[in-house]
Amino acid sequence: MKKISAKITSIGHFVPQKVLSNFDLEKMVETSNEWILSRTGVRERRIIENGSTSDLAVPAVLECLKLRNISADEIDVIIVATVTPDMLFPPTATIIQEKIGAKNSWGFDLEAACSGFIFALTTGASLIESGRYKKVLVVGADKMSSIVDYTDRNTCILFGDAASCVLLEPTENNDEGILDSILRTDGSGKEFLHMKAGGSLNPATTETVNQKMHYLFQDGKSVFKVAVKGMADISYEMMQKYNLTSDDISWLVPHQANLRIIDACAERINLPKEKVMINIDKYGNTTAATIPLCLYEWWKDKKLLNGQKIILTSFGAGYTWGSVLVKWTMENFK
Ligand code: UT7
Repeated sequence: MKKISAKITSIGHFVPQKVLSNFDLEKMVETSNEWILSRTGVRERRIIENGSTSDLAVPAVLECLKLRNISADEIDVIIVATVTPDMLFPPTATIIQEKIGAKNSWGFDLEAACSGFIFALTTGASLIESGRYKKVLVVGADKMSSIVDYTDRNTCILFGDAASCVLLEPTENNDEGILDSILRTDGSGKEFLHMKAGGSLNPATTETVNQKMHYLFQDGKSVFKVAVKGMADISYEMMQKYNLTSDDISWLVPHQANLRIIDACAERINLPKEKVMINIDKYGNTTAATIPLCLYEWWKDKKLLNGQKIILTSFGAGYTWGSVLVKWTMENFK
């Protein structure tokens, strides 16, 4: 029997209209455009005013289906990577399923923080490779504004809201699509990046709310160091595994957490900056949405082309991190 691989056959995105600029933030906390720009690379981010994570995801999914010219009832599985589900349960995947009318599908949420998209992509690819499923939607969506404390200058400058998704389908050409993934977790990182309350450890009480335990907490300096090493090492491991040099890689698609992290990672693997997808200036860190949002924009601008080999890489809370090697062939789909 022929080995089945998974390939990306369609893509969609959604960013809300409202822009929250560094200058807006100057009026909210003690910060400056110069500080934010030089330390993070972010100029502005988008914020959804009315709506939830599923409201971000649905337009992205609809765009993806339209591009592939299929209806929602053709979808087999919906996987939603998010740290900001509409509710703790039911899964946001089911809320999206109902909103788009994907009546023949099942699905689930996958929580792997900023690595959510590449973990979900790997999971979705495995479902395709198993031969059981033909159309798997992988969504990265986060309404980070719902867990950000806009009086905390350490974190509120970093994050934004967005959603993006890809459709995975089978191919018998094993030299295209999702070629391989290397994924890791290290739970010793939990103290540096987390949300303390709202889960079973610290259920919501008046006290947890008063102590601001339902907001994202980050020890930025500690995360910074491991993020650079984590993303660079695991991208390099992928290159070594397939004997690839920087000439063989057309694009590095890094999680957009901090421009300095991205630059340092690219430098460590000897990849010129022209080969790195960067849009953190426009959207900030949108957690599970950063990587597919980059893919969407570069594809739309005809810079991400068929036949190109690309490495997706991310690092996030947990810690979670990884790299995915992809050969992009989307437009060839028949
Ligand atoms: O996506 C998941 C993974 N997350 C990451 O990868 C994020 C990793 N970390 C980072 O991106 C960076 O550590 C930050 C951007 C969060 C912070 O940058 P930093 O260069 O590590 O700054 P810092 O936290 O060490 O703070 C330096 C100084 C401090 O002042 P003192 O103690 O030196 O007087 C902060 O209080 O900058 C101060 N500061 C600010 N000043 C103006 C912190 N935030 C701000 C701010 N505006 N918004």
